[in-house]
Formats: sequence, structure tokens, C-alpha cells
Amino acid sequence: MGFAGPSGSGKSTLLKLIPRFYDVDTGSVRIDDHDVRGYDLRALRDEFGIVEQDPYMFSGAVRENIAYGDREIFAEVTGESPAERPETADQQTVEAAQASGAHEFILELPDGYETQVGERGVKLSGGQRQRLSVARALLNDPLIIILDEATSDVDTETEEIIQANINRLCEDRTTFIIARRLSTIRDADQIIVMEDGEITETGTHTGLLAVNGLYAELWDAQSDGESRRDSGTPV
Ligand SMILES: Nc1ncnc2c1ncn2[C@@H]1O[C@H](COP(=O)(O)OP(=O)(O)OP(=O)(O)O)[C@@H](O)[C@H]1O
Ligand SMILES: [Mg+2]
Repeated sequence: MGFAGPSGSGKSTLLKLIPRFYDVDTGSVRIDDHDVRGYDLRALRDEFGIVEQDPYMFSGAVRENIAYGDREIFAEVTGESPAERPETADQQTVEAAQASGAHEFILELPDGYETQVGERGVKLSGGQRQRLSVARALLNDPLIIILDEATSDVDTETEEIIQANINRLCEDRTTFIIARRLSTIRDADQIIVMEDGEITETGTHTGLLAVNGLYAELWDAQSDGESRRDSGTPV
């Protein structure tokens, strides 16, 4: 499911209600007909992989920052010295990084996976942090993925890598994607358009173009004169 709409329209806020980073004042948020407030908070959040707009990195090793996605692996990676901890924990973090496209740049860091990031360590670019956070989400192997597409102006090549990783991450899972570049969500089963804290349009890409409302306007502005017929997906 894709989400579109102007900055400040409430997209991030809406998705944060699902894993209960916020709770609703009125109404309810339900998964399979169960109110999210009825679940154990830890159990609920374990089912989510969240890639945020501005992924949070704490000062610690790159490996720890990836392991953060899975409670057990995180405990192993942070609890034991590198020589003593189970090899599988290290291996799993590397596999997640390979799948997210982060492995290559990590190897180029001064201490590889043990490189310290954050305040006293290496500063990572927005694109690099996003790849680490995709690795984090993959590690957890969640049922539901929430992806708040980064605004960071990455180059086209990086964008393609990120897109490929996102596609892999979303395979066979329920996914909620907030997209600034509408091409990211063009093939979504359903697209939700928000304005001023409210849902104003819903439908498929083709359906929304036909409505000729805000989505169509945003699409036209981004597709830069490209004909709608050429860029639309068949229904
Ligand atoms: N339905 C709502 N009820 C109360 N507050 C809302 C509602 N929708 C949005 N807000 C408030 O509006 C502000 C912006 O919302 P949000 O960050 O979700 O926007 P966004 O669509 O994700 O924007 P961006 O594209 O810039 O990330 C926040 O301060 C949020 O608390
Ligand atoms: Mg947002």
C-alpha cells in the first residue's frame, strides 16, 4: 500500500499509529480485526520492520546498529566480546547487510563492521544510513514493513540500488510505503493520498490518474511532461 501527499499532510503520523509510536485519540487501529492496543507492545513491534525517513543510528559499531533490528541478535552482538560471541550472530548481520546493499560500503569503512558510527565515529550519509536501516529491518524478518522514503537527494545510481533493496525487502510481506517519488508506489495495490491530516483520495495509480485530483497533479509535476498513457500501468 502506498501513501502520497504534500509535506506535513500526516503520512508519517498515520503510519506511526500502527506499531503504536502514537495512539489514536478517537477511533481505533486494527490488524486482522484486533485493536493494536490489545497486543503486547513488544510482541507487536517485533512484527514490524520500519525504515524511517531519517534512520536513527546510535554511537556504537556498525554491526551493533544493524543488529538493533533483532532483539536476540542485538543481545548477542553487544553482550559478548567479538571472540566469544556466537558466529551466527555476526554472520546474520553480514547477510542482512549484503541483502540491503550496505556490505560494500561497510567494508570500505576504517574498521569495517566494527567501525564506530555516530558522535565520535564515522559520519554516514543519508543513503548509507538508509541501507543500514533496511538491513536492520531484514534481520528482524518481520510480517509488516513500514517504509518512509528518505527525502535525501541521492544520485540516480544509489536510488536504483535502494529501490532494488526495497523491492527485496517488501517481497511476500504487507508493506506500507510513503513515497515522495510516486514511481516508487506506482504498482501498489492501493494508493492513499493525504492532505491536511486527512485521506482525500484512494485507488490504484491508473484509477487516481483518471480522477484527475491531487495525485494526478503530483504525478504530472514529477513525470515532467511524460505522457500519462506511456507511464501508466495496465489495470
Ligand atoms: N490527523 C492528524 N491529527 C493530528 N495531528 C496531525 C494529523 N495529521 C498530521 N498531524 C500533525 O501534522 C504534522 C506533520 O505530519 P507528518 O509528519 O505526519 O507529515 P508527513 O506527511 O509525513 O510530511 P513529510 O512528507 O514532510 O514527511 C505533525 O506535527 C503531526 O503531528
Ligand atoms: Mg513524513
